[in-house]
Amino acid sequence: QAEGDLVGLRVLVTAGGTREPIDPVRYLGNRSSGKQGVAVALAAADRGAKVVLLAANIDDAVLSEVAHRAEVRVVPVGTTAELESAAHAASAGAEAVIMAAAVADYRVADVADQKIRKEDAPGEAPTLTLVENPDILVGLVRDRRPGQVIVGFAAETVSTEEELLERGRRKLLRKGVDLLALNAVGWSEGFESGDNDVRVLDADGTVVSSVSGTKREVAERLLDAVRHELDAAAR
Ligand code: PMT
Repeated sequence: QAEGDLVGLRVLVTAGGTREPIDPVRYLGNRSSGKQGVAVALAAADRGAKVVLLAANIDDAVLSEVAHRAEVRVVPVGTTAELESAAHAASAGAEAVIMAAAVADYRVADVADQKIRKEDAPGEAPTLTLVENPDILVGLVRDRRPGQVIVGFAAETVSTEEELLERGRRKLLRKGVDLLALNAVGWSEGFESGDNDVRVLDADGTVVSSVSGTKREVAERLLDAVRHELDAAAR
């Protein structure tokens, strides 16, 4: 028998980084390891939730933490378009959505069918034309089910705490989410590491939690805030 404060809830978590193909052997990507999203999925399962984890290009070593858990259904995705359609399909059956994945904002306009070869254009560096990807989070907020709690993440490179909060508050408004997990990122912070430093903002932009610790600790505090929002939505 499951126990915990999330028993009976279905939670959708996205993790990892989407990749956009350039040609059959190359892609544009980012450094998300999936550790933060996997930590959220695991913490939610430990608190009694049933979890769908949309895993964008996550190494087996990271995924192995959840792979054996019956309460976590792992769905692998590659590109932003794949993540978008899987997210819309799974969101319809979830009371809470937590979007920890790092999504490519742009994709390559014309993906080459064959490997781009240097010898085909000697001395000429190719130019890639990019087109904007849809914002998945904005689409999920638009199509939300009543009472559903939607959490965005924001990864920002900033020089001060003030700038971090200002950027976070602007992103919060733009995305229309209920909660935003705001983390400063850089060459060695946020992405890939075992720790994270996160402010959780509510829809008014108020900092409801500030946590610097392991990604599991961040996940627990974030789920506390989700629990609180779900209770508030039910009242
Ligand atoms: O995976 P790790 O190595 O553990 O690193 C964790 C992390 C730093 C990747 C994670 O904590 C994090 O911050 N994830 C969000 C990264 C990100 O893409 O942030 P953003 O500020 O670019 O996007 C804001 C939000 O919109 C995110 O919830 C993102 O999932 C979403 N988004 C972004 C672009 C887009 N086209 N569609 C989206 O839904």
